[in-house]
Amino acid sequence: MNRHEIHGGQVYQLAKQLGRSVETLLDFSASVNPLGPPVSVVRAMRDAVSECQHYPDPYSEDLRLCLSQEHGIPGASILVGNGSAEIIRILPQALALRHACIVGPTFGEFEHSLRLAGVRCTGVDAVSAQRYVPPFEKIVDVLEEWRRASARKGHKAGMHKNAVFLCHPNSPTGRRLSRRDLQQIVDTVHRIGCWMIVDEAFVDWCPSHSLMKDIAASPRLLILRSFTKFFAIPGIRLGYVVGEPAVVESIRKYLPPWSVNHVAQVAGVVALADSRFRQRSQQFMQEERPRLIARLRRISGLRVIPSQANFVMVEVFNGRSPQDIVERLWAQGMLVRDCQSFSGVTRPALRIAVRLARENNRLVKGLTKILQKS
Ligand SMILES: Cc1ncc(COP(=O)(O)O)c(C=O)c1O
Repeated sequence: MNRHEIHGGQVYQLAKQLGRSVETLLDFSASVNPLGPPVSVVRAMRDAVSECQHYPDPYSEDLRLCLSQEHGIPGASILVGNGSAEIIRILPQALALRHACIVGPTFGEFEHSLRLAGVRCTGVDAVSAQRYVPPFEKIVDVLEEWRRASARKGHKAGMHKNAVFLCHPNSPTGRRLSRRDLQQIVDTVHRIGCWMIVDEAFVDWCPSHSLMKDIAASPRLLILRSFTKFFAIPGIRLGYVVGEPAVVESIRKYLPPWSVNHVAQVAGVVALADSRFRQRSQQFMQEERPRLIARLRRISGLRVIPSQANFVMVEVFNGRSPQDIVERLWAQGMLVRDCQSFSGVTRPALRIAVRLARENNRLVKGLTKILQKS
């Protein structure tokens, strides 16, 4: 397995390895809403199972209608996939990309999918010294370089084979750009005519920073969204991409038929309607994340990176190995993510999902014990 294929949430493997059941593990390694799926969604999924003697709607019409109302965009701008990971996997071929700029350190599936399609990848990485704020200037430099190269050739043609991949807010860092800097990048992309793929898998935790409102005016902007994190249904698989209708239609051709099952489609429709769950989740995160951060900051040997998402990145000092910490936490039935597998993470670090208060307290206690021993 190459390192881009390593993900959090490997509870089934670990449960086998430790000889214990999945329910006894506390998973801080996958960044999923700690409130669990909305009750309304669980109920609707149960009911939907009885309709599984039919093939699912291959176009996810009902869900697309709800999404189009949610975002105020045409249904033809939306393509639903079996998790946003499925769409990420087909994008490089569907857009016939040749060169991509990946703003890192970030989700490994961008690079993995691009390399599988033979796309040249250039990484522009945020750095620890700036607490992993996305590197605005480096992104602008790459775009400027692309603009100059296309000007030398005398036309914009060729730019549609280039793309910037940005996860916003980013994983594993939890950081985002200011609205002004992000807008400037979107404007520059528009001017030079390359693609910009923005993965908003975690934007439900800071919804005012979504670029969805820019979609109509930006024909080369594609936005990826996921249901699995915020609505806590990663086992169901549901995500989508939003873009210009003709582009979305050309991406659709690369999806296998019926890739989104019926239960997932129903779950999406009901999840979108549950505004109380959304409010409750956002309010919970506003309170619990700073509380967890404050407690982690009191543990010596850790440096906490500020976060706008439902997880925090924590750098590990004093020569402690993150892998060693990960394994000691396994022994206590807890999973955290070692950030070593994210290309561009230059200092030892862990990614920790924010969970319920009592669970976070257990993790803090476990970490304190491990780090005191060093
Ligand atoms: C940044 C990011 N984007 C997309 C995904 C894939 O999400 P989905 O469950 O919708 O396939 C993940 C999953 O970990 C992720 O971290």
